[in-house]
Amino acid sequence: MLNRRHALALLGAASFAASCGSNGPDPAAAWRDPGAGIADPRRFALAHAILAPSPHNTQPWLVEFDDALGMTLYCDLERRLPFTDPIDRQITLGLGGFLELYRIAASHLGQFAEITLFPEGAPSPRLDARPIAHVAFSPVVNAAADPLFAYITARRTNRNVYDLERIPNDTLLLRATAQVAGFLGAAQWTVEPTRVAALRDLVWRAFEREMQTEGAQRETYRWLRFGREQVAEHRDGLAIEGPMIGPLKALGFFGEDDLINPNSMASETAARDWRAKAESATGFMWLATPDDRPETRLQAGMAYARLNLAATAFGIAMHPWSQALQEYEEMADLYAEAKRVLEAQDQVVQMLVRVGYAEASAPSARRDADAVLRA
Ligand SMILES: Cc1cc2nc3c(=O)[nH]c(=O)nc-3n(C[C@H](O)[C@H](O)[C@H](O)COP(=O)(O)O)c2cc1C
Repeated sequence: MLNRRHALALLGAASFAASCGSNGPDPAAAWRDPGAGIADPRRFALAHAILAPSPHNTQPWLVEFDDALGMTLYCDLERRLPFTDPIDRQITLGLGGFLELYRIAASHLGQFAEITLFPEGAPSPRLDARPIAHVAFSPVVNAAADPLFAYITARRTNRNVYDLERIPNDTLLLRATAQVAGFLGAAQWTVEPTRVAALRDLVWRAFEREMQTEGAQRETYRWLRFGREQVAEHRDGLAIEGPMIGPLKALGFFGEDDLINPNSMASETAARDWRAKAESATGFMWLATPDDRPETRLQAGMAYARLNLAATAFGIAMHPWSQALQEYEEMADLYAEAKRVLEAQDQVVQMLVRVGYAEASAPSARRDADAVLRA
């Protein structure tokens, strides 16, 4: 018979992964042959764009098709993370990733995507109901498709423990950063042991700080999906998977207060698990921009999507650690430390990720393209 201790240990061991084989609609269906049999280039591009990375897998996109080749992107304002992302910076990055995948998929069909950012003006300080972007397609004769298209369905956020024996080589990382050459800011990396050690320590302490910050934990809890049934029902958020997770949740385990309390056994087990992940980083990459305008954030999100796709092409695993970059009061000292360690005092660090080699991870859940289309 399972007792509480067993149940909580299971939670700690459970990773974020999409479920397969549940009774509901397959939450990973969107990854299999997206766009197959679709003639409308906008729908083809949309089927790929929904595979973009987004903070907490919130999938904050809302789409309207206008004339035959046009698409307007909005933010689904209910899908923001107001505590940990109080200025909507990370949500905007996610929307940038969506636009980049939309553009890359269009290029595969020989369509040029003309993207106008914030056509009705850039919102400040937070996003609002105005459009994020308008995208118009026009056919291009003999256009070269973007080679990153081939990696859209293989791209993952890989949260496994990385192999300490295999360090990504500088040439590959340089080639990955070359994929974001036109981008406003800079993509940088380190595999230098002293610097990597400092960054492992920083990302871990920031993660731990977040675990001790009640508002942040409550917000994350709302995006946790326990077991196959919940993952299949929501098809978003962060899946906590394991053989018994669903049934245990139904029995009343994994309650919010237990997971919010940093001293509970569940939290302590999870903390050990996450620390091992941080300590297995063999390298870090980051994206820094000269300013933090909404347009710059969208471009940083586009750049991050390209970097993640390029890493996929080279077999390199990637996993963002955003806690130290977040703009809430409890994180302020570690935010300042991140800027110092990354030598980015006059810049805005938009993404910080660990890189390395790891076992493949499962695809995360996605809602259907139809669920994000506004009539
Ligand atoms: C702006 C941004 C910030 C993110 N920060 C984190 C993070 O701090 N920790 C983490 O595990 N994943 C982070 N992610 C990854 C998302 O959780 C991930 O993209 C989402 O769960 C979907 O999974 P996928 O990338 O495998 O499709 C971030 C993604 C984005 C776009």
